[in-house]
Amino acid sequence: MNKKRIVVFASGSGSNFRALHQSVLKKDIPARITALICDNPDAGVLDYAREHDIRSVLISPKNFNNLADYTKKLADILEREAPHLIVLAGYLKKIPDHIIECYPRKIINIHPALLPKYGGKGWYGMRVHRAVIENREKESGCTVHYVTGNYDEGPVIAQIKVPVSTDDTAETLAEKVLKQEHLLYPKVVRFLLSNF
Ligand code: GRF
Repeated sequence: MNKKRIVVFASGSGSNFRALHQSVLKKDIPARITALICDNPDAGVLDYAREHDIRSVLISPKNFNNLADYTKKLADILEREAPHLIVLAGYLKKIPDHIIECYPRKIINIHPALLPKYGGKGWYGMRVHRAVIENREKESGCTVHYVTGNYDEGPVIAQIKVPVSTDDTAETLAEKVLKQEHLLYPKVVRFLLSNF
């Protein structure tokens, strides 16, 4: 079996992780998720990985004396996994610059807004959707982009727009956007892997 290898990083409930894994199971993504890397021992995504026999690695910078030690450990893990693609799916820690340099154009992220709007340090989760509603935007959406050294600034690969209606709240908008994320991310992963 010579399948392409994906490593996913996630910190939270893992609905995108689930969407990706379901696409793998359906063979829409012709690859294998070889490992989940997670920084949060309470993350729901760990339960999903356990239930589906996906190896998970719990690693957080806060458990290391310094950034260099953490980076080295992460680099070693990734070297062993030899991923064709590294997929950030709701991962809240910064990826060290050294790792980004080691995997050029191989690390992607999904963001719940139409970047470059509502992106950058501190823009994540409900904060994004609340701001979109407060600013009376007519549309929002989700963006998949390459990961660079600055939060949410890498080149955009694909976006899906979601209209914002006048009766939307941050919560209803979050739900609509997340639904589109689950469609967009597997498609982009499939497309990128087909080009390696
Ligand atoms: C998603 O909204 C994604 O855009 C952002 O983090 C959230 C992760 O959600 N990067 P989930 O854990 O995949 O449900």
